[in-house]
Amino acid sequence: MIFYFSGTGNSRWIAEQIAKRIGDKTYDIAKSSTIPEINNEKQIGLIFPIYAWGAPEPMIKFAEKLKKTDAFTFGICTCGAEAGNALKKFSKIYNLDSSYSIIMPSNYIIGEDIEKENIISKKIETARKDLEIISNEIMQRKKVYRVNEGNLSTLKSTVINKAFNKFARTTKPFYVDKEKCNGCGICAKNCPTSTITLVDGKPIWNEKCYQCLRCINYCPQIAIQYGKATEKRGRYTIEKYLQDKNTL
Ligand SMILES: Cc1cc2nc3c(=O)[nH]c(=O)nc-3n(C[C@H](O)[C@H](O)[C@H](O)COP(=O)(O)O)c2cc1C
Ligand code: SF4
Ligand code: SF4
Repeated sequence: MIFYFSGTGNSRWIAEQIAKRIGDKTYDIAKSSTIPEINNEKQIGLIFPIYAWGAPEPMIKFAEKLKKTDAFTFGICTCGAEAGNALKKFSKIYNLDSSYSIIMPSNYIIGEDIEKENIISKKIETARKDLEIISNEIMQRKKVYRVNEGNLSTLKSTVINKAFNKFARTTKPFYVDKEKCNGCGICAKNCPTSTITLVDGKPIWNEKCYQCLRCINYCPQIAIQYGKATEKRGRYTIEKYLQDKNTL
């Protein structure tokens, strides 16, 4: 069974693609609070995006509760560039036989604009090749550690990651352009922390936030902003860039 968490679809796509290749099923950990029975699973995969050189809180919490079995275990993180020591740290919570990073387009639009079309396409093309290799290695039960840690990985995955979780995950800068918002409710329905509610047809944000950036990236009206900087930036979701939408 392949468990995944995903804000803007990269990790979901990777999970679906691996599942298709190795003949397994996927499970979105944000959609259910119950943990399925895994006694008879041949392999356990955990797939998630990198947030500030670490694993997202919901995936860590999930892994802490997940039963340890004799199954082969693998972790795959998706990241814009580098993962730091995220998977080494994660493996202490849930032991991983294999660990991988796959470079995908960055969805971090509150920090920088989306990448150019040709860079996004190239990343997805390279990821498709990675998927073939990784799937074969999983099927062969090869124990692999292939993670693009980047430099200063220890510092980034400890001090900076801690600061991110403590200070950066604030919803305060979120606001909605009331003229553009049509009250469709997609942001509230999709938020994995259920922190968004519609009041008079417009979203308001409570406190709890994973900073997955699903709300701001998926709003069909581009009505959500995070401070001033995002007003001039693009939005990222993997669906925009997959040529064959059925592959999702
Ligand atoms: C809050 C936040 C922090 C991020 N930090 C990193 C990072 O430390 N290193 C990196 O390479 N990419 C980083 N990214 C980019 C994402 O890891 C990357 O785009 C990922 O593939 C998104 O996956 P998803 O579409 O499944 O949510 C960050 C994105 C967000 C939203
Ligand atoms: S997704 Fe966008 S348009 Fe829809 S309710 Fe939320 S802010 Fe408004
Ligand atoms: S408020 Fe937005 S960024 Fe925060 S958890 Fe919900 S969807 Fe993700």
